[in-house]
Amino acid sequence: MLFIANAEGWPGIPTTIEMLRSGSDSLTAMVAGISKVEAETKVRSVGHGGWPNMLGVMECDAAVMDGTTREVGSVGAVPDTIPVARLAHEVMKQLPHVMLTGAGARRFATETGFSVDDVLLEDSKRVWWERLEQEMTPEQKAAFPNTPLAPLLKTITDPERVRDTTVYLSADPARGIHAATSTSGWAWKYPGRLGDSPIPGAGFYADSRYGAAACTHTGEMTMRCATSRTIVLAMKLGYSLSDAVKLAVDELSELTDGFLGGVVIHAVDAKGNHEVFNFRCQGEIRYWLWDDSMPEAELRAAKTI
Ligand code: GLY
Repeated sequence: MLFIANAEGWPGIPTTIEMLRSGSDSLTAMVAGISKVEAETKVRSVGHGGWPNMLGVMECDAAVMDGTTREVGSVGAVPDTIPVARLAHEVMKQLPHVMLTGAGARRFATETGFSVDDVLLEDSKRVWWERLEQEMTPEQKAAFPNTPLAPLLKTITDPERVRDTTVYLSADPARGIHAATSTSGWAWKYPGRLGDSPIPGAGFYADSRYGAAACTHTGEMTMRCATSRTIVLAMKLGYSLSDAVKLAVDELSELTDGFLGGVVIHAVDAKGNHEVFNFRCQGEIRYWLWDDSMPEAELRAAKTI
C-alpha cells in the first residue's frame, strides 16, 4: 500500500493512514483525510482557509476517481460548502452524472444532508477587499460589484497566493489505485472559474491497471495538456512512470502562449513506484509519502529540472 499527498495535505494524513491501515475503502479514507484539510484554517488554499473569488465569494472545487471502475465524482465552484471532496464522493456514489457545479452542486449538498457553511474567514475577507481596493479606480469602487471584472483580473489574479491544492493518491494491489482532490482555486479568480482539480484527465486521473496522477498549482496549464490523463495513458502504452512524467513535463514546456505558470505533478504506478515533479514552481516543493512498512508519513522533496 502506497499513499502520497502534497505538503498542504498534512491535517488529514494521520486520519487517512489510520483508515487505510484498518482496511477502509481507499477513497473513503482519502476523503475523510481531505475533509480535515478543508476544515483546517491554517491551510490557505483549500476549503475554509482558502481565498475567495473577485466578488469575495468562496467557490470550491473537488473530485474523486476510483481507478478500478474509472468512476468519477466532481464538483466545481460550489458555494457555502466546506467538505467538497465528500460532496464529490456523494456525486460519484449517488448520481448518474460525473460533475455538478455552482447552485446545482449546492442544491445536491442540501438534499444529501450537508450543512450550509460560512466558508469565508474574516481574515480572508479583509485581505480580499484590501487587495481589490488597491486595484480599483474610485469609479470602479463606487460601482462595485456592478463593474466589469475582466479588466481587474489582469492585475489582481494571484495564482502564486494559491501555493497548492490538496491531492491524495493511493495505490494498493488489493484495493486499487485512486485519486482525490480539493481546492478553493486561484485567489481573486473570475466568478465561475474552474481549475483543474475537478476536471478528470487534467487535475487527476486513475486507472488501477497502470497508475494515477494528480496536479497542483496552475490548472490553466494542465487543462490545456490533459496532464494527468497523459501520464496514465503513457503508462498504458508501455512508458515507465518516470518517462510518462517526463512526457507530460515536455508537453507543459511546449506551451509558449496564454497564461503560463508552475505545476507540480504527483504520480504513482501499479508497481509501487511514485514520482513528484516540480515544473517551474518557485521554492522547494515537498510532499508526503507513506507505505505500509513506515510507521508514519515522511515529508520528501519533489524532483525538479
Ligand atoms: N490546481 C488548482 C487550480 O488551478 O485551481
